[in-house]
Amino acid sequence: MELFEIAGAKWLEQDIARIVVSRDQIARRIEELAGEITECYRGKELTVLVLLKGSVVFLADLIRRLPLKIRLEMMSASSYPAGAVDSQELRFAVPAEAELAGKDVLIVDDILDTGRTLRAICQEVKSRKSGSVRTCVLLKKDRPETVDRIEPDFCGFAIEPEFVVGYGLDFNDLYRNLPDICTLQPHVLTGRFGGNGSAGRTGENLGD
Ligand code: IMP
Ligand code: MG
Repeated sequence: MELFEIAGAKWLEQDIARIVVSRDQIARRIEELAGEITECYRGKELTVLVLLKGSVVFLADLIRRLPLKIRLEMMSASSYPAGAVDSQELRFAVPAEAELAGKDVLIVDDILDTGRTLRAICQEVKSRKSGSVRTCVLLKKDRPETVDRIEPDFCGFAIEPEFVVGYGLDFNDLYRNLPDICTLQPHVLTGRFGGNGSAGRTGENLGD
């Protein structure tokens, strides 16, 4: 597997199990996504609200393909482990100084899993009397069991519910610089997911 065509990246290759979405697939799909978004907002000004840090690589590639008037706002959101997975507390703050009133807002995130993050942020943005609020994610995990999950307006790829890194996505804040979206070897995930790497998310492991 040629993840990096430079010497010295052996440690990386030992940690990676499989490429789930390749850099070429990402590039092609972003071209299409940009077309869909441009069509939707033609003639309008767009405020892109991006969730740090996982979305930065995606954001950089996406907005350079949008021939629109764009303003950029940034924010972070993170889950705090509170004992059990389901009782995790979601912490986030839409920046107070962000001008959202009356604006058409597109929230950009890396990956939609349970949808809790995006749902909460959409509500917060709407409470600031924004105009339209839409969401765009690079990835969404197929989770047939979640019935009333928020569905993104724009989505790059639907993937299996396994933990992925690369192209901005992290595990313990590592692997964001991988050009492809990959799964990790079980030995990397051991101790976090019980070694099978199949859990979508469990707690403090999570990137943002
Ligand atoms: P949700 O609130 O369950 O939809 O969680 C979404 C957030 O969890 C994303 O913005 C990511 O920060 C993180 N996340 C979920 N799944 C993964 C993954 O497979 N890799 C890295 N981060 C993930
Ligand atoms: Mg995130």
